[in-house]
Amino acid sequence: MGEPMGTQASTGSIVQTKTSNVGPVILFGPPGAGKGTQSKRLVELLAIPQISTGDILRENVAQGTEWGKQAKAAMESGNLVSDDIVCAMVAERLTKPDTRRGFILDGFPRTVAQAEWLDKLLCGKLFESTHGHVACEVPPVVVSLRVDYNQLLQRLTGRRSCPTCGTIYNVYSKPPKVADVCDLEGSKLVMRQDDREEVIAGRLKAYEQQTLPLETYYSAQGRLLKVNGDQPEKRITEEMLSLIEHGNHL
Ligand code: AP5
Repeated sequence: MGEPMGTQASTGSIVQTKTSNVGPVILFGPPGAGKGTQSKRLVELLAIPQISTGDILRENVAQGTEWGKQAKAAMESGNLVSDDIVCAMVAERLTKPDTRRGFILDGFPRTVAQAEWLDKLLCGKLFESTHGHVACEVPPVVVSLRVDYNQLLQRLTGRRSCPTCGTIYNVYSKPPKVADVCDLEGSKLVMRQDDREEVIAGRLKAYEQQTLPLETYYSAQGRLLKVNGDQPEKRITEEMLSLIEHGNHL
């Protein structure tokens, strides 16, 4: 890690070099915390890819792949997909060369078993011969986005996204200029199937029971960095950049 990754100019805007190594960044938080929103902002600033297991799974379901067929029922009911499928997807994605400077994991790991698997992968204990480039030259930075549970329901039921460019809107907090139409692409915005109220309850339960224990897991490693996700998007991004930079120098 040579030069600093990001600095804040006196105007408050973020100046980014986009050239230094960032390493793995894990974005952790409940459904609706803003992981996808912040990942997209960090992709722009850090020029590293977002790896969203939710997006990869939805693509597989839409394309009717074997993974998609196996994952569909769990996703529709708000449950987690099996660790085997999700880890295999992540392993495959990490072989791509765009991950060499770093990558943002959005929604992974989500169970302690996934976190243990990732630790081994990043330390080169798995796939040493074929996936050597993901060995942890820099350890992962784990950022936990924390949002009041009462806010989450409104965020999820109000979310709409562009099927063409993936831009995320919210009918309450970040509406498009024209109702239900993407500002950038002009496409009709869509609501995710699992953003129906009856499914959201299951997702929040799965988060509490299976994902929240990861806070203890990463705290024990001294890696859990907390950000108040109930702030304006830009402010959250600035705090995250600062933590990512600091985390890489631990
Ligand atoms: P996934 O797609 O990962 O969904 P999730 O974790 O439930 O998270 P969301 O995408 O719903 O929320 P987000 O935190 O990204 O919030 P966003 O930025 O969109 O997973 C879906 C399913 O796939 C799972 O249920 C499971 O079945 C399966 N799956 C995925 N990964 C898995 C894994 N590792 N293991 C097993 N199964 C897995 O923001 C939400 C809304 O809030 C938006 O409208 C946005 O505009 C708004 N918003 C964002 N930030 C702010 C802010 N600061 N202020 C006000 N509004 C804001």
